[in-house]
Amino acid sequence: MSVINPKYMIKMEEQLVFSKSKHDEINQQLDMERIPNHIAIIMDGNGRWAQKRHLPRVAGHKQGMQTVKKITIAASELGVKVLSLYAFSTENWKRPSSEVSYLMQLPVRFFSTFVPDLVKHNVKVTVMGDITQLPEATQKAVKDAMADTAHCTGMILNFALNYGSRDEITQAAKKIAEDVQNGNLALADIDEASFGKYLMSTQLGQFANPDLLIRTSGEERISNFMLWQIAYSELEFVPEHWPDFDEDSLRSAIIAYQGRHRRFGGLKNQ
Ligand code: IPE
Ligand code: IPE
Ligand code: MG
Repeated sequence: MSVINPKYMIKMEEQLVFSKSKHDEINQQLDMERIPNHIAIIMDGNGRWAQKRHLPRVAGHKQGMQTVKKITIAASELGVKVLSLYAFSTENWKRPSSEVSYLMQLPVRFFSTFVPDLVKHNVKVTVMGDITQLPEATQKAVKDAMADTAHCTGMILNFALNYGSRDEITQAAKKIAEDVQNGNLALADIDEASFGKYLMSTQLGQFANPDLLIRTSGEERISNFMLWQIAYSELEFVPEHWPDFDEDSLRSAIIAYQGRHRRFGGLKNQ
């Protein structure tokens, strides 16, 4: 029979008290009246999370999927309108085929277990990216999830899947050229607003531009994510690897956002 050394029990209690007080402090600081409408997250660090534990990289992706579930529910309960999650970039095809295959299976697993929860929380699924290049089963899982949640009117859970911003902008430019050539669009009508309608984020309507962009794992770069849309987003780079990111991390990032002065080129007190 194993007996817990009382010394460690005290340590565990101390730790519980510590994390509870930290949690309370975060809750006190959070202003529920100023929750960002659109939060975008570059979910990074799955591989390193796994390697630190001497596990294969895919174990990090599996754990990361649990984080997606937790953060989706947390964001929806906070009143976030759009949560955009970068799940697979147009450059991620460069990874070993075994890892790519695993990543392609994840949406199948994710939606097969999570759609009822999404419906329960009134969350609608949308996707940005070229899904026609994904395996059949992945495409089906994504399309079914979008159809099964199409009636939901709460938060939009917007997955970036085989998404790259340069590709998005290039495709938009091509479509605009085509419309001009066909006489469906006048050159004089091309402006920022009309250009935005050719981007994949147009489906997000008035919330197309993230208010807050979070990247986990300590990397401080954008890696081809929503380049047009983040022109005036507040950026938060956090050290946790994605599988370790939790509700308190999300709340802390929002608190940091709430401490910023967004000026959009104007002056602070305008
Ligand atoms: C993010 O984690 C998930 C995807 C890019 C699909 P990574 O797989 O990039 O993990 P690291 O950055 O190698 O640790
Ligand atoms: C960005 O992470 C893509 C996703 C999170 C899906 P990466 O891990 O692919 O980015 P880099 O290679 O470190 O820039
Ligand atoms: Mg990475």
